[in-house]
This record gives sequence, structure tokens and C-alpha cells, in this order.
Amino acid sequence: MATLVTTISETLRYRGKIGQWSWVLHRIGGLGTLLFLVIHVIDTSWVYFFPELYEEAIRIYQTPLFTVGEFFLVACVVFHAFNGVRIVLFDFKPEWWKHQAVAAQIVFLATFVVLVPVFILMGQHVVEFYTGRPFDLGLEAVITRVALPFGGGMAAALVGGAVLSVLVGAVTGNRGAAGPQLRQRSRFDQLMWTFMRLSGLLILPLVFGHLAIMHVIEGVFAINASGAAADFVAARWAFLFWRVYDAGLLALALIHGFNGFRHVVNDYATHPAIRRGLNWAIWLGCLGVIIVGAVALIGGVPNAMP
Ligand code: HEM
Ligand code: HEM
Repeated sequence: MATLVTTISETLRYRGKIGQWSWVLHRIGGLGTLLFLVIHVIDTSWVYFFPELYEEAIRIYQTPLFTVGEFFLVACVVFHAFNGVRIVLFDFKPEWWKHQAVAAQIVFLATFVVLVPVFILMGQHVVEFYTGRPFDLGLEAVITRVALPFGGGMAAALVGGAVLSVLVGAVTGNRGAAGPQLRQRSRFDQLMWTFMRLSGLLILPLVFGHLAIMHVIEGVFAINASGAAADFVAARWAFLFWRVYDAGLLALALIHGFNGFRHVVNDYATHPAIRRGLNWAIWLGCLGVIIVGAVALIGGVPNAMP
């Protein structure tokens, strides 16, 4: 959250050209999507761990605050995806760099062209759902059911990261952070550089397909419209194809997103021990969320109709 705030405030302070706006919106889009994804994977896993809580989670999704958030989420994903493709293209074709300002404009235009019809379709679902319903912001549920547990999880990851940082520091000695580890890290970072690009390209069709089903074709309000939300998931997970699809999205988007988050944190955290602790916390958080999501995908929906 602090990195998101620093990114926004520094951008407002510094007046740059279109490239700077692309950079900051790419960062906000990536971090915003990751924030949603972590909450989303945890609540989807409840379909296996706590089926009755899953019903409540879907009802929270349908409150006005989350409804506004979903428009923001779709905008984040679409801009980040298009701009990500631009970055990948220019990384592999550096001779095209002279066209980068035009390419950045095309990304903004393409985002706008996609978002207008998508927002109209999403808006239709929203109007249908809210017509004749009492308006309840649902703030209490968002704070007690989402913000507090999420804050607890972040605190646990930070404590775990700090403990691991101290242990690793004790074994390797603090000298390690500036010496041989630097070479090791750069090899790992080279690998992750390529992974960020390949995974981005693979995530694009997966996430656009998922969002098209969940937002445009079905709509968030369709999940529990004709019965329990768990039945909606059970019907989809009855097909191995959708489980494999979700597994691909789970692993790629989380590793991509958490590694992107690590880059952002490393831009601001310069002290070696603090940086190492935060990096460990990020990988612990990533692993924890992947495990929770994978267990639910394998376990499926208990008592689902065959
Ligand atoms: C508000 C928009 C979204 C809605 C309503 C939604 C809905 C759902 C639903 C109902 C499931 C249960 C399984 C299924 O039916 O396939 C699911 C699973 C999943 N979704 Fe989404 N989704 C949304 C956005 C996203 C986005 C943007 C991403 C990725 C960046 C994503 C990634 C996943 C993953 C990885 C799973 C599997 C979770 C697990 O294994 O626990 N979803 N989503
Ligand atoms: C939809 C397809 C996507 C594409 C094409 C894509 C592409 C990219 C690219 C090329 C980068 C730059 C990597 C670098 O500079 O080393 C990046 C960074 C990032 N991505 Fe994605 N990405 C996609 C989806 C996602 C998703 C679903 C998330 C969240 C779960 C995400 C989160 C991030 C974050 C946090 C960063 C770091 C931003 C920064 O350093 O400023 N991305 N992405």
C-alpha cells in the first residue's frame, strides 16, 4: 500500500511526458490487480475450506464499494496488459524505439476503445442488479471481512520475512548482501526478467478470457443468481479444462505479480537487511497464496452435485 501511495504522490509531484504516465499507470495497474488477486484467490479457496463463508464473500463482491472497484480492476488489467505487450515488443525490437511515443498513444487509445463497450455491458448488469434494491454500502463487511484479515496476513508475511532475513543474514554474514549474493541475484533477476515477459504474454489470453466470462458474459451478479455461489464454481470445476485453466492463471499471475511487486519494493527499500526481509516476505506471501489456491483447485467443492 505504501509503495502504491509513494508511486502516486511522486508522479503528481514530477511533471513528465507520456512515457512517465505509461510507467506509473503500468505500475498502479499491476499493483492494483495484485491486491485484488490475493483477496480473490483467498476468498475463492473458501469454496473448499469454508463453503458457507464463500457465499458471504460473493455477497460482499456485490456491494457498491466492490462494484466500483471492479470497474477500476478491469481498467487496471486492460491498460497493464496492453502496455505490457508494448514493453515486450520494444524489448525484443529495440530498433523500434524511435516510435515509442506513438506506441504509448496507441496503448491509451486501445485501452479506451476496449473499456467503453466493456463498461457499458458491465453497467447494464449493475443497473439490473441494483434496480429496486435498498442501497447499502457494505462498509462494515469490507472492513471486518476483508481489510482486517488481509492486514493480518500482511503482518504475518512481514514477520516471517524478517525472521528469514535474520536467519539468512546469520548464516551468510551481512557481507554476503553486497558480495557474491549480488552476482547470484543478478542471475536470478535475469531469469525473472525473461519470465515477466513470457508470463505476461501467457497471462493475457487467460485473464481476458476469465474476465470476459465473469464480467461480460455471466456478470458478477450471475454467480449466485440461480442458487448457491458454490454451485456455480462446482459446475465450472466439473470440467478438468477449467481447473487447469485456473491453475495456469493462479501460478503465472501470482508469480508475475509478486515478482513485479518485489521490483517496486526494491526501488524504494535500499537498506540490504530491510530489502532482504521484504523480499522474503513477498516470496512467502506468494507461496502461501499459491498453496491455498492450489489446494482449493485440487479439493474442489465439497458436496457438489455430480
Ligand atoms: C471481479 C472480477 C472477477 C470475478 C467475478 C472472478 C470470479 C471467479 C470465480 C467465480 C472463480 C471460481 C472458479 C471459476 O469459476 O473458474 C475464480 C477463480 C479464479 N480467478 Fe477470478 N474472477 C475475477 C477476476 C480475476 C482476475 C482479474 C484474475 C487474475 C488476475 C483472476 C484469477 C483467478 C484465479 C487464479 C482463480 C482460481 C482461484 C483458486 O484456485 O483459488 N480472477 N474467479
Ligand atoms: C495481462 C497480461 C500482462 C502482461 C502482458 C504483463 C506484462 C508486464 C511487463 C512486461 C512488466 C514489466 C516487467 C519488467 O519491467 O521487468 C510487468 C510488470 C508488472 N506486472 Fe504485469 N503483465 C500482465 C499481467 C499482470 C497481472 C495479472 C498482474 C498482477 C497479478 C501484474 C503485475 C505486475 C506488476 C506488479 C509489475 C511491476 C510493475 C513495475 O515494476 O512498475 N501483471 N508486467
